[in-house]
Amino acid sequence: MHSTDELEKRVHEEPGRFRVLTGDRPTGRLHLGHYFGTLHNRVRLQDLGVETFVLIADYQVLTDRDIADDLTGHVEELVLDHLAVGIDPERSTIFAHSAVPALNQLLLPFLSLVSVAELGRNPTVKDEIAHSRQAAVSGLMFTYPVHQAADILFCKGNLVPVGQDQLPHLEITRTVARRFNERYGAGGPVFPVPEALLSTAPLLLGTDGTKMSKSRGNAVALAADADETARLVRGAKTDSRRRITYEPELRPEVSSLVLLAALCEGGDPWRVAEEIGDGGAAALKRRVTEAVNTRLAPIRARRAAYAEDRGLVRDVLKAGNERARAIAEATLKEVRAAMNADYH
Ligand code: TRP
Repeated sequence: MHSTDELEKRVHEEPGRFRVLTGDRPTGRLHLGHYFGTLHNRVRLQDLGVETFVLIADYQVLTDRDIADDLTGHVEELVLDHLAVGIDPERSTIFAHSAVPALNQLLLPFLSLVSVAELGRNPTVKDEIAHSRQAAVSGLMFTYPVHQAADILFCKGNLVPVGQDQLPHLEITRTVARRFNERYGAGGPVFPVPEALLSTAPLLLGTDGTKMSKSRGNAVALAADADETARLVRGAKTDSRRRITYEPELRPEVSSLVLLAALCEGGDPWRVAEEIGDGGAAALKRRVTEAVNTRLAPIRARRAAYAEDRGLVRDVLKAGNERARAIAEATLKEVRAAMNADYH
């Protein structure tokens, strides 16, 4: 795999050579961790001229729960969050993988290319199984990284912006692409071997000092209003030292708040800490609240305007699904031809 720096350079030089596929499970409203971790980057790549596919991984929700609650609502929230941050449905494709039959059909030949032992070694899946609320490991949980390969390869995505935890999955996608090409690519490779574009964003903690997460109630949602934001930040965990500093190792909670203010302001965390200095936690929290609300104000305004019109959200998804379907069908056709199964 190429380094992030090298990939960034190539993307800037020739954005037209890349196709980005990235996505999320629809499990709730996106928050500031998503914004600085990935959303911001998706919009940046789109605006650089890279063709961008945003996947709503609705089948993947079923990996760790028996029933997906309010899936329709969550899917709509996800579309709204993307429109609000600046994903432009004229240039980018937002779609749900359950709406693209030919994408899902790729799963079958792909499954034949990986061994059960390989699937069992995936550290991210192992971790998810360890933390699962389900009594038994489902076949979907075990195989979802191969489904993810179908998500990426159906559109021949060659650049996948992800966090560290997704690297084992991308490795499986790369293996599937390589093996498919080796086994069936006599007439030329069918799939690109995609590259991971690792997020360089520093990690933000939730307001309780643990991992920021939708389900823990410790995250500021993009869609939250200014008061809700103020309340969450006011309740954030700090420590007993008055003077504010930026020392992520020694003072994770305080430093994460400083970092959040800096990210929102487009500034540098050491500087923010110094400016607050002996103002203490109260001044820090005021600064964070102000910074977050200012940064998110235009995003929230756009989101509210789009939310007025649920028909629009549906239309965006419908158009994205249609586009994804056409691409998936063309790829499936190629796959069948390469597999010498072209009798349909
Ligand atoms: N597994 C990803 C997550 O939980 C979501 C996802 C599904 C994805 N398919 C993908 C991400 C393909 C990147 C590419 O966040």
